[in-house]
Amino acid sequence: MERTFIAIKPDGVQRGLISEILSRFERKGFKLVAIKIVVPSKDFAQKHYHDLKERPFFNGLCGFLSSGPVVAMVWEGEGVIKYGRKLIGATDPQKSEPGTIRGDLAVVVGRNIIHGSDGPETAKDEIKLWFKPEELIKYTSNAEKWIYGSSSSSTRF
Ligand code: GTP
Ligand code: MG
Repeated sequence: MERTFIAIKPDGVQRGLISEILSRFERKGFKLVAIKIVVPSKDFAQKHYHDLKERPFFNGLCGFLSSGPVVAMVWEGEGVIKYGRKLIGATDPQKSEPGTIRGDLAVVVGRNIIHGSDGPETAKDEIKLWFKPEELIKYTSNAEKWIYGSSSSSTRF
């Protein structure tokens, strides 16, 4: 089953939005398979955002990500990478639709409260960067047959 890396950035943690964000992914039907709270070092933040190292905001962005506790998570589910990005909304909260996490809860691009992997390759790399394999919990949720219609995600009613 598909997995994505989601992080609540220091602004989301400080603003008391952890449970709000968790509940949006949980209520959708996605499954939480890893979670921890960490203060990333600046070096670690630079690794996480390595593809943005040429951008003018890179230093500020990495300084910000390492400025306080971050809630790092792995969510699992059919289509979770793409749909997770939909739940999160556009990068700039001024352009995020109402109903999305950034649209409802953030105002400026530099404080957009949440990160989500942008594709299968980045999801794989980011999960590997933030979590050890044994921190990913494999389990069956009783809700799955109600979410997917059967124990096999490829079967539909
Ligand atoms: P992430 O999920 O955090 O990776 O955001 P994203 O995938 O929607 O956007 P992107 O990867 O392009 O940028 C990463 C982060 O850099 C964004 O979430 C913003 O916090 C920040 N960022 C992006 N563009 C700008 C910008 O123009 N100015 C500033 N200050 N920050 C930016
Ligand atoms: Mg990104």
